[in-house]
Order: sequence, then C-alpha cells, then structure tokens
Amino acid sequence: MTTHVSQNYDFSQPEAAYAELARDLGALLQGERDLIANAANTAALIHDALPDLNWAGFYLYKSGELVLGPFQGKPACVRIAIGKGVCGTAAARRETVLVEDVHVFPGHIACDSASNSEIVVPLLRGAELLGVLDLDSPKHARFKAADARGLEQLARIFVESLG
Ligand code: SME
Repeated sequence: MTTHVSQNYDFSQPEAAYAELARDLGALLQGERDLIANAANTAALIHDALPDLNWAGFYLYKSGELVLGPFQGKPACVRIAIGKGVCGTAAARRETVLVEDVHVFPGHIACDSASNSEIVVPLLRGAELLGVLDLDSPKHARFKAADARGLEQLARIFVESLG
C-alpha cells in the first residue's frame, strides 16, 4: 500500500473535498481486500479528514445484528439490533439516516455523551447488508445532504475494495 500523508481537505467546498477524499480512500485501499484492515483505515481516514467528529467507524452485520467494528473515538456499545437506534434504523431501511439532534431521535443509543448529531450510511453489496458506517459530531446539525452523498460514495469505495 501507499503511505497515507495526512492532509487538509477544504470542506467549505464539500463536493470537491469529498471527491478528493474518495480519490485518497481508493488509493489507500488499493490492492487490499481484508474487511477489518480496510474498515480500520477507512475509519481512520474519515476521522482524520472531517472536521467536528467525535466518533467515526463501523458496525458490521453478523448473525442478524450489528456488532461493533473498527472505529476512532471513545469505546462504544457493542451490539445493536436491526431497527434500534440510528444505526439499526439505517440498516433496517437500507438508506442513509441523518439526525440533526440525537436527543430527539426516538430510540437513539447514546455511546458518547458529547454526540449531538449523527449520520449513518448502510453498507450494501447488491442486496446484501454488510453493516453501517456511523459518524457522530458534538455539533448540532453537523451533517448535511452533501455529507450524505459524499459518505455514500466513500461507503461504495469501501464495499468495492472487499471484492
Ligand atoms: N448512536 C448510535 C449508536 C452507536 S454510537 O453513536 C457510536 C445509534 O443510535 O445507533
């Protein structure tokens, strides 16, 4: 693999920043198919690149529930049932869930009390659910539609890297 050099992405232009990040993620995962290794590097890249995050990582779909995978941030709850919390809701709906204020989301699972907003992107390989990508922020309404589109693109690159 190539060595990753930490760099600043200009998120005042979110589409351009996510396009650069997508290019860098593709380069980072190039030639490696291991799920844990690629999830760990994807979480680290996102946590390093995006401003105002307190948690970034994966829950992986195993035996009918979501189980904590590689992440950056404080220790988190390990198992989440499909349909529960923001993660389980995104997994059940198989669509991105964007929450401006986690304190008013019914059933939100509080892992880090610093979190105020959250976005969860499902990881789909065709019809198969592989898990979710979860980002938390201490900022209220941190995530916008441009983040949803950008993170969905990063999630696709991660899923494609697995072969
Ligand atoms: N808040 C999530 C749980 C995972 S943590 O944010 C890392 C949820 O409601 O599903």
